[in-house]
Order: sequence, then C-alpha cells, then structure tokens
Amino acid sequence: MEQKEKNFFIQEIDVEHICREFGTPLFVYDADHIFNQIQTFQKGFEKGDLKIKFACKSLTSLSVMKLMKSYGTGLDTVSIPEIKMGLMAGFAPDQIVFTPNCVDFSEIEQGVDLGVRINIENISNLEKFALKYGRSVPCSIRLNPHVAAQQHASKVEEWHKQSKFGISAFELETVKQIEASYNLDIQGIHIHSSSVIMSSEVFINGAPVGFDIAMGFKNVEFIDFGGGIKLDVGDGNKVIDVVDLGKKLDVKFQEFCTAYGRKLELWFEPGRYLVGNSGVLFAECVVRKTNGYKEFIGLNTGFNHLIRPMFYNAYHGIINVSNPDGDLKPYNVVGNICEIDTFAKDRVLNEVREKDLIAILSAGAYCYSMASTYNSRYRPAEVLVINGKAKLIRKRDTFEDLIRNQVEIDIS
Ligand SMILES: Cc1ncc(COP(=O)(O)O)c(C=O)c1O
Repeated sequence: MEQKEKNFFIQEIDVEHICREFGTPLFVYDADHIFNQIQTFQKGFEKGDLKIKFACKSLTSLSVMKLMKSYGTGLDTVSIPEIKMGLMAGFAPDQIVFTPNCVDFSEIEQGVDLGVRINIENISNLEKFALKYGRSVPCSIRLNPHVAAQQHASKVEEWHKQSKFGISAFELETVKQIEASYNLDIQGIHIHSSSVIMSSEVFINGAPVGFDIAMGFKNVEFIDFGGGIKLDVGDGNKVIDVVDLGKKLDVKFQEFCTAYGRKLELWFEPGRYLVGNSGVLFAECVVRKTNGYKEFIGLNTGFNHLIRPMFYNAYHGIINVSNPDGDLKPYNVVGNICEIDTFAKDRVLNEVREKDLIAILSAGAYCYSMASTYNSRYRPAEVLVINGKAKLIRKRDTFEDLIRNQVEIDIS
C-alpha cells in the first residue's frame, strides 16, 4: 500500500502553524503557486498576444482578484456581483469580460452600464442587444462550435445535444443576419466548449473551426478559447501540457492572423488551471469509527465546504499532515453533514488518529466558491500565503451571518 500524494504545500508551508493560528476547517491558498501557474501558461505563447482572463467563479475572493490583477491577468465573470467585485479589486472595466449563461437581458444591460466587455451566448439576447445598442456597444459572441471536448467519443454526441451553452454553430446565419441588420460591432469569437479538457487536441482541432467562423466577421479583435484545462490532481487521468498547447496553438493562431489580415489577441479564461492546485482545505479528524466493514475518518468539514467529490465524483488527494510516518491504512474519509458525505473511499493514508490535521488537496477551484451553510454550519475562513506570510482573506462565518437575512415573523 502506498500513499502517493506528495504536496509542495505541506513541504514548503508551515501549515500546522497556520491552522493553529486560524483554526480548522480552513482554506489556504498559495500566491507563489498561482504566479507559477500563470507563468507556465504564458510560456508557450511567445508570439501571440495572449490575454489571460481569470475565471473568478472558481475562487471568488476580492484578495485573489487583486492578486490576479497584480499578476497582470484580466477577469472572466458570469454575474453582476462578480463584475462589481472585479471593479472593487481594481480591474478596469475593459479588462473584465462578462459571459453570463441563460440570463434575463436586464443583466446584460447592467453589464453594459458597468462598462465591461459583453459576451452574448444566445440569439434571444443578441437580438435584444442589437435592437437596443446597435453599433454603439461592441460585443463578442459565445459559440458552440460542436467540437468534441470530451474524451470518450460515445459521450460526445450526447453531450453536444444536451449542452445549453453558446449559440449553436447551426445558428450562425442568424447571427450574421442580426449583425448585418443592426450593423453590430462583433469584436470577439468565444469558443469555450466544456470544462475539464484533458487533451491539447481539443483546442488544436477546435481552433480552425473557430477561425473559420471568425473569418466571416469583419471586426474581430480577439478569439477567446475559454477555460476548462484539466489539472493534474493525482487521479491518473491525462492532463494538458499547457506549454506544448501554447506552442502548437500559437503557430495556428499566427497563420490565422495572417490570413485574416490583422494581428488579433488570443484569450483564455482559466479558473481551475490557475488556482485548483494552489489551495488546500485543512480539517481535523474529530471521530474514528468502524461499521464492521470499513474504518471511517470523520472530519470537522463536509460537502457543504467541498462538494466536488459528492457532486462530480471528483478526486481530491488527501494527506495526514500530523502523522507522515504512520502505518498505511485504508479509510473512508467522511464529512459531518447528516447525509452521505464522503470525500474518499478506501483511501490509503498514514494512520489517522483523532485530532490529526488532514489536508484535502486541489481545493483552490470550485470549492469555497461552491460552499454553503447547509446543516447550519459555518463556512470556513480563507487564508492567502503571500510573501511568506499567512493573511486572512475571509473570516469564518458566525452565527450572526447565518441568521442575518432571516426575518422572524410573529406566529400567533
Ligand atoms: C465560459 C467559461 N469560461 C471559463 C470557465 C473556467 O473553466 P475552468 O475553471 O475549468 O478553467 C468556465 C467554466 O465552466 C466557463 O464556463
């Protein structure tokens, strides 16, 4: 039996000290790791004008947004409050792209009022946008190019039939009619097709489809490939070598720019790639128990804090920080929510004792931002390690937070 996870976090950061100071459960993020991810991403794209727009739904924190700004990224947003936070964090409106999905047109109007770049993903809102703004406000369009984004061919067709995202490539003629009728200023083509893309080929093979579509529009200034880049989380799945992707895509992009007759910007909107492995959820083992078949490690956290294993069957590495040399044993690692609440089954860990500090890895993306107060439990605090110092960037919820918006009526 082997515990395979080795983690820079545990090796390089004094996590036990941080957890003593701030308590558990606790999300801890590492600014240096985020910076390295950005630099790695940029490495392959030497020629193209790469613009990284951090998908802030993955980790929605003012301090992290400020950090991203200081590292030179823009912001990808999906709601008006995300835009407002981005503006608070110091992004200029034109560094923020707004790609909401299935929203009332009034949200697009608010986005326009806030001055951000508008990305439209359905014909209904495109028509309303054209009618109201015509050429006076530029926009981009999110297309579903129907390019295979999933690994398993059998699932691809069904996935595309089910996908609610983007304007279908089948509706391209309608887009062109609207563009012509209202003299629309379509400046960008956005072709994020899926999350968790494991192979560069998806981007490389999908790019020409996007380029062909872009050729049909006169004023294009950028092509946006979205996000979705799979990270190495230790689950044994294939991941993308982003440097290799950059090199290959850069060549195709330059060829396209030459054919288009103008140098364009190349956008990506990574979320998980930048922050996924930059965060860890630390929790304490509060209970050990057995049901006669399995040994359970009960943590002082649950799927209310990190829902991905229960929601997506996602794999997260787990480490016993307190007992790194303990005997290896298989455990079911479970949370404290009064429902099935399992982080991992039959996971081999160094022997876990009550009070041991347990690290749940790859907890930077879609963890805190998807957390809830279900079971009336407080959401954890968040800490950012920056310049060697651990800084609190969000307080733990309190009882007052839980009841703040409740209105007690008179029952008589
Ligand atoms: C339009 C768009 N851009 C960017 C992202 C970020 O994806 P990821 O965090 O997987 O990179 C998503 C995620 O679903 C998305 O829908």
